[in-house]
Amino acid sequence: MGLAYLNGEFMDVAEAKISPLDRGFLFGDGVYEVVPVYKGQFFRMQEHLVRLEQSLEAISLKSNHTLALWQEILSRIVVENGNGNQAVYLQITRGAPLLRQHVFAEEQAPATYFATSWPFKTIPIEEREGGSAITLKDNRWGLCHIKSVNLLANILAMQQAHTQGHKEAILIREEYVVEATSSNVFMVKDNILITPPKTEYMLGGITREVILELAAAHHIATEIRPIHRSELATADEIWVSSSTKEAWPIIELDQQPVGDGKIGPLWRQMIHYYQSAIYGSKH
Ligand code: PDD
Repeated sequence: MGLAYLNGEFMDVAEAKISPLDRGFLFGDGVYEVVPVYKGQFFRMQEHLVRLEQSLEAISLKSNHTLALWQEILSRIVVENGNGNQAVYLQITRGAPLLRQHVFAEEQAPATYFATSWPFKTIPIEEREGGSAITLKDNRWGLCHIKSVNLLANILAMQQAHTQGHKEAILIREEYVVEATSSNVFMVKDNILITPPKTEYMLGGITREVILELAAAHHIATEIRPIHRSELATADEIWVSSSTKEAWPIIELDQQPVGDGKIGPLWRQMIHYYQSAIYGSKH
């Protein structure tokens, strides 16, 4: 098994134990991050740690782990877990006070700090295949910009998609595209790359920012604007993006082909730029 970090100590992840009174366990009272690592190197680590701070602040959770300490902890995990491609996971919850009560304890219990990593399979670009998705109503709460461990509505939507044989569910709120269950959404129409603006109903993805930066650097026209659900049916391409999916093409939506039903040219261009951003321009 892999190396994990829990509250100041390193151990095999199978040995890591927390109290059942932990508020993360009882209430989902905590936040997390997933940072991709390629060939032992973190990709956009700083951005992930800044977002972690924002999530902590948004739920008034005081952490005594500085960003520098997290860098040290995560680096050790990456090295000891083989120094290859990994998804590094870290989570902070509001600890385990003895009494279960909704209100925070007056003397807050020490937070629970956990991190580990899993191998992260990367498929060569030419072997990547598009996937199918469905649209579903967004049943989540109003503070989805916080990367909260409370993911029940996300996983129920993902499970529904999976049960029907799809890879993702694109979530719709009041007729507009928000994001997918664990990724952001892009659509291409007439060579313009379009993605919804950041709101409190979606997570501001680090990968989304990377894609927008790369689009700007390579003179790809972009629009950041609301996408009505009806526009998805007219899209030339649809992608979802996340730290573990990178940019990933959706070639069928709600049983209908997206564009011509094949992986589109703008995705091919973008994934090439994305690889260069990860590994340097030789790729
Ligand atoms: N999820 N939206 C949601 C709801 C997400 O859970 C994620 C990432 C994203 C994309 O964010 P980023 O590009 O920063 O990874 C958007 C992670 C990977 C997860 O829960 O495993």
